[in-house]
Amino acid sequence: MNEFFYITTPIYYVNAQPHLGHVYTTVVADVLARYNKLKGSKVFFLTGTDEHGDKIMETATKMGTIPDKLADENSARFRALWPEISVENDRFIRTTEPDHKKTVQAILQKVYDSGDIYFGEYGGHYCVGCERFFTETEIVDGKCPIHETDLIFRQEQNYFFRMEKYRPWLIEHIQNNPGFIRPERYKNEVLGMLREPLDDLCISRPKKRLSWGIELPFDREYVCYVWFDALINYLTGIGYPDSENFKDFWNAAQHLVGKDILKPHAVYWPTMLKATGVEPYRHLNVHGFWNIDSSKMSKSLGNVVDPLDLKEKYGIEAFRYFLVREMVFGLDSNFSEEALVERYNADLANDLGNLVSRSTKMVSKYFDSTLPEPGEDLKEEEKELRALALRVVGEYRDRMDTLEMHTAMASVWSLVSGLNKYIDYTAPWNLAKDDPARLALVMYHVMEGLRYVAEMIFPVMPATSKAILDILGVQQESHFKDLERFGKLRPGTKIASARALFPRVEKIVKTQEAPVEAPQDNLLDISDFAKVEIRVGRIVEAARVDKSDKLLVLQVDVGRKIQIAAGIAQSYSVEELVGKNIAVVTNLKPAKLMGIASEGMLLATDTAEGRLSLVTFDRAPKVGSKIR
Ligand code: MSP
Repeated sequence: MNEFFYITTPIYYVNAQPHLGHVYTTVVADVLARYNKLKGSKVFFLTGTDEHGDKIMETATKMGTIPDKLADENSARFRALWPEISVENDRFIRTTEPDHKKTVQAILQKVYDSGDIYFGEYGGHYCVGCERFFTETEIVDGKCPIHETDLIFRQEQNYFFRMEKYRPWLIEHIQNNPGFIRPERYKNEVLGMLREPLDDLCISRPKKRLSWGIELPFDREYVCYVWFDALINYLTGIGYPDSENFKDFWNAAQHLVGKDILKPHAVYWPTMLKATGVEPYRHLNVHGFWNIDSSKMSKSLGNVVDPLDLKEKYGIEAFRYFLVREMVFGLDSNFSEEALVERYNADLANDLGNLVSRSTKMVSKYFDSTLPEPGEDLKEEEKELRALALRVVGEYRDRMDTLEMHTAMASVWSLVSGLNKYIDYTAPWNLAKDDPARLALVMYHVMEGLRYVAEMIFPVMPATSKAILDILGVQQESHFKDLERFGKLRPGTKIASARALFPRVEKIVKTQEAPVEAPQDNLLDISDFAKVEIRVGRIVEAARVDKSDKLLVLQVDVGRKIQIAAGIAQSYSVEELVGKNIAVVTNLKPAKLMGIASEGMLLATDTAEGRLSLVTFDRAPKVGSKIR
């Protein structure tokens, strides 16, 4: 058993607001942190924000602000979100913090002094979204394989890290340490990348092009390239090189990332560590992506899921459960609110919620809310139930250890349904009539079984776990040693009556709208339609309007700059609008809304949830071109 457990999430870029994807990774990290606490390990959990680089600079410029301000605002959003969703990280790191700058510079100097950083010239295809160059074999149809956007050809003099030098070492390390990159499919993907020589890693940007970064200690004309800067957060976060935390936790380090950032974590990072003279991390845990209703989640498709909306509707416990139960770790998964509602009603309201409420009601009714003495007269059913509880603990631990969290949950639910079946089979309502001794034995077993469930759901649903343990009168913190023996609950304990833990929610039925009838009259001649000029507009700036919760004022480039006042503030935030390409009617007579001049109208429609959805494009259009 590991005595220490160090878990990290990617540090998130501050050019966007937190969404479902960020929440998934961070919730899983929290689940693993809490699970390791159950095992009795000392845990350190690090998350934070990645604040330097082209991408942040570009977004700040687009929004008419400065990168420091953008970083402060969006970093604060991430930081504030985590407690809202029961994530308990030990440190929130920002790459703009002074200790991080110091660590990055110390490592740069060390690697430079050892001769693994050199000055040279490089040209290649760069994606600003990924903040990295792509090799010819990685490029798909001339575009970034992740963002599907055009790449920029960049050539300049820069500093390079001798990454290729460490390729043979890395291959050997991966082969000798089977769980180093997991699941297996990603390990194989990385070994595939390492079959060909690697380009050395460009680790600088000339300040004259990009000043938003950490200065190289050996050349003040350059700043550090964002991945080299960002990855080092995992060392800064636990006080590399001298702190006790670093000494205790580093060799228990596990990173958790999405598949989009596999290469930086599986290739750049271990080779950087090797060159720095630091042991590689223990595991890189790679998960798949959430798609929304079967398509990629993206700002331009307008299908980005806001986690707080879901929290508000279903509660954070159910949302966390869904994320963990629904995704097979390592594979992509489809997110839909309908699936969430189904899981909620089936697993939480029906199976678990009912179990808790009906069983505690029985203890209240038959034993005046006091846990009875079980006696010794076990029948086959009790023996089976005990064996099931102990087997589930074993399965749960094996599966959690190998990151099969969805089957770990399924295993716990096999105990929930075992308990429900046990109640149905033993029928306490009949025993109440003529067999009080057996009734006591049965109710004790149900309550004790419930304790097993409550302890095991702690990592995923900490508040529900606590609520059930409170009902059972268990005060001490959860720990696996309390699950080694069935029968720890003390007879005589007061059992509280449960409130409904998960009230059922309405099933979402995709409403069958009445078919749209073909118009019969009011038909337009094509020449009438041609009078309407609709053009592609790019939103350059967006701002809220004082005293209006509906109106936004947009500056839009439609080939010329126009201002539009639009009633979309309840459906879109200012940040997500800037940079969007939309459809704009450009030959309307100017109007005024709440005193604001408006020179055009944007096109939008309704979503099934009653929000607005802007008309956008499935390929990057030319700004200002006519829509016909
Ligand atoms: N800043 C870099 C990471 C540097 S780590 C040293 C970065 N940031 S990011 O904001 O783009 O976050 C990417 C991560 O967000 C993914 O690796 C994944 O953890 C999470 N997700 C973003 N979208 C996602 C989905 N649609 N589905 C699941 N997780 C995804 O990359």
